[in-house]
Formats: sequence, structure tokens, C-alpha cells
Amino acid sequence: MGPDRVPAEQDESGFRPYTAKAAEPWAELATDRARCPVSHNAELDAVQITSYEGVKEALLDHKSFSSTYSDLWPLEEPLPEHKQVLGASDPPRHTRQRRLLVKALSASRIQRMRGFSQRLADDLIDAIVEQGTSFELITAYARRMSEEHMAELLGIPEDERAAFARMAKVFEMSIEDRRNHGFNDELDAWIKHLTDMVRARRSVGAAGDDLITQLCLATVDGDQFNETEIAALIQLLAGAGISTTQQAIGNIVRLLDSHPGERAKYLADQDGLTRSLVNEGLRHDGPVLGLWRRTLGEDASVGGVDIPKMAKVFPVVAAANHDPAVYDRPDEFVVDRDWSELPLHLSFGHGIHYCVGMNLAMLELEVGIGTLYRRLRNLRIRPGFTPQQIPGPIVRSWPSLEMEYDLPAGKRTP
Ligand code: HEM
Repeated sequence: MGPDRVPAEQDESGFRPYTAKAAEPWAELATDRARCPVSHNAELDAVQITSYEGVKEALLDHKSFSSTYSDLWPLEEPLPEHKQVLGASDPPRHTRQRRLLVKALSASRIQRMRGFSQRLADDLIDAIVEQGTSFELITAYARRMSEEHMAELLGIPEDERAAFARMAKVFEMSIEDRRNHGFNDELDAWIKHLTDMVRARRSVGAAGDDLITQLCLATVDGDQFNETEIAALIQLLAGAGISTTQQAIGNIVRLLDSHPGERAKYLADQDGLTRSLVNEGLRHDGPVLGLWRRTLGEDASVGGVDIPKMAKVFPVVAAANHDPAVYDRPDEFVVDRDWSELPLHLSFGHGIHYCVGMNLAMLELEVGIGTLYRRLRNLRIRPGFTPQQIPGPIVRSWPSLEMEYDLPAGKRTP
């Protein structure tokens, strides 16, 4: 046994993120949670946490569970300082960067994007309708919704949006994947471009509501962000905020498709149920399976179980969301749960790193899902098409969903 494992009596969980039944891992996760919510996952060689309270406890204790080793996989060394940005940083660096973004992504700021969001959803559906009655959901709709919202939020000029969308795919890759696929030079060129864009906006004293301009103008504790830091923040936002929302749209559509009774319930009261549907979709099958941390000191523990120094720790958000101690019938998809009465699901994380883009994500999902089902009648996964999931410890998503619907399509949203 390596030095970074929990004691043997908690050892060996049954959940295998790379080889398990990726579509329905709930039974394996339930067995692990019932046996011991803090256990050693052999496939990941990491400490796995599967209870709602345990995941919350680890995510709240940022002093013991560091984020500075996290890329998409906990590294052996902390990231270099200039790469310790927001989600991959600990206080005090994190506190300073976060304070500014919270303001820029506040509920009231994001609500001002609602008109944009609705027009975009309708435009994308118009384009789908022009092509006929079948389409691929992720490329034609989910990805476009996410990319365009991010570009609008940041204030990327119209004529650079296609290039930004291409580069966003590189932002999402792990350091290793970028290196292995030879994307590092292209990434460096784009980061230089962002740095120049920031410098130019600063030099002309740009005024605007977009996030890049806000980052240029902001002063935190008397000092400003430098260009490199802003470019890194933009890269991080695009990396964190595009694929997640894209995946969430796909996951919710697939859930509705595989639960015809809940789908009918939703369609009967779309206005009343879209928000609870989105929360239930995120709870039942959110895009984040688990997060990564590393223990820095000797005194880390979860649920009374000591975790050794330098252990790789894997709080399984998806397992927390299916904890029967918190949710009734946890493995069932129920579109009309009363979320005002329920503890919030952990799909947006918990503690200091709680998703800063949550308001934007909820806007995109509510408008995106609502418009899709209002306008495309009898929307369904094409019979004969079997969605495939890519197994792994971080993301739960359906990379492709071939859909069809019946004409006539509904009118644009007034
Ligand atoms: C359904 C969509 C989304 C999901 C499920 C999601 C999930 C999460 C989770 C679980 C975390 C916590 C990470 C951790 O503790 O290590 C997080 C953090 C973060 N998210 Fe999201 N996210 C979504 C959308 C977005 C969007 C749209 C943006 C950008 C506008 C965004 C930006 C971020 C950033 C910057 C962080 C790091 C925050 C910090 O460390 O303080 N996310 N997200």
C-alpha cells in the first residue's frame, strides 16, 4: 500500500470510473457509501468520498484539502504560481481573484443577459428547423449555446468568435493532452492575443459591461490585475464554463428521453417546472462526476477517518447527490421535487470554490432547455441511436445525441 492511502479497513471501493457502467454507476456508488463513505479507490489510487456530508466536509476544509495540485488530475507538484488561478488556487490568491468575479457574475448582472440568451436559443432552433427534422444536439445546439454565452459574457468581438470557439476546446484540455497533441504553441499565441486585447482596452480607457473590460478596470485591495493574470482568468473561465453547460444540456435531454413519464409531466407545465427540472437534472446526472484535491498537512480527516499527507482525494459529487440520507428515492429522476425544501445538490461544488458561474449556467440551462422543448414538438433521441458515454472520473456527458422532432416547429419566443 502506498503512503497516500486511507487505512486498510477502509480500503478498496467497488466503483471503477474508467470501467464501471458509466451510464448508471449509482448502485456501485451506493454500495461503497454504505460500506464506508471514505475509502480507497484502486482504479484511481485515491481516497474516494461518497456521502453528501463527507463531500461537503472535504470541500469546506480548503486548508487541509488543497486545490493547487489540480489540473484535471492531481499533479505530483503544485502548479506553477502563475497557473494557480481561481479553481486551481488556495487563499489568499483565490480570495482576491474570486471577489472580483463574484461581482461580475452576480445574479443581477447575468439577468441582463436574458434577452441575448433567448434570442440565441431561438436563432439556433431556427437553424435546426431549416435543416429538417433530425439534428445532432450537442454540436447544433448545446455547444453553440455555451460558446456564445461565454463569448458574450467576456465581450469577445463578433469577428473573433469562431476563433475563440476553436481555442476554447484547447482551454478545456489537460496540460498533458495539450502537450501530446501539439496545441501548446497555438495556446500561447491565443494567450498573447488576449493579453494584447487587455492592454489595448486599458490604454484607450475602455468602458463596457463585458467581463474583460470589468477585469481591466477592477481594483481589489488597491491593486489591479495584470494582463497575464487576466488572460489566465479568461482561459480558466472558458475552460470551466463552456463544456460543463454543454454537457448539462445533453444530460438533461437524455434524462427526459429515458423517463417518458417525467417528460410528460414536464411538458404539461413547462413554465412551472423548468427550474426544478434543471436542478433535478443537475442532481441526478450533473456533468461533474468528481473533483480533485490533495491533502497538504498531517491532520486531514473526513467523517472521523484520517487521511494521510499528500493523498490524492476524490470527492465524488455525483455520489453525494444520490445520498439517501439527503434525498428521498435518490436514484429516481423526479422533475417536480420541491427545491425550496431540499438541501442544494453539490453539482456546483461547495465552499470557497463554489461555482462562480452558477447564475450564468442556470440562465443557459433554463432558457436552453425551455426553448428546445417548447419549439420542437415530440423531441426525442432518434430511434436506433444508442448514446455512448466516455467513462472517466471527472466528467459525465453524452458527446453525441442524435435527435428528431415533428413539424410544425413552434414559433420564436416573443
Ligand atoms: C452546469 C454548468 C456548470 C457546472 C455543473 C459547474 C460546476 C462547477 C463546480 C463543481 C465547481 C467547483 C470546483 C471545485 O471545487 O474544485 C465549479 C467552479 C467554477 N466554475 Fe463552474 N460549473 C458550471 C458552469 C460554469 C460557468 C458557466 C462558468 C463561467 C461563467 C463557470 C466557472 C467556474 C469557475 C471560474 C470556477 C472556480 C471557482 C473558484 O474556484 O472560486 N462554471 N464549477
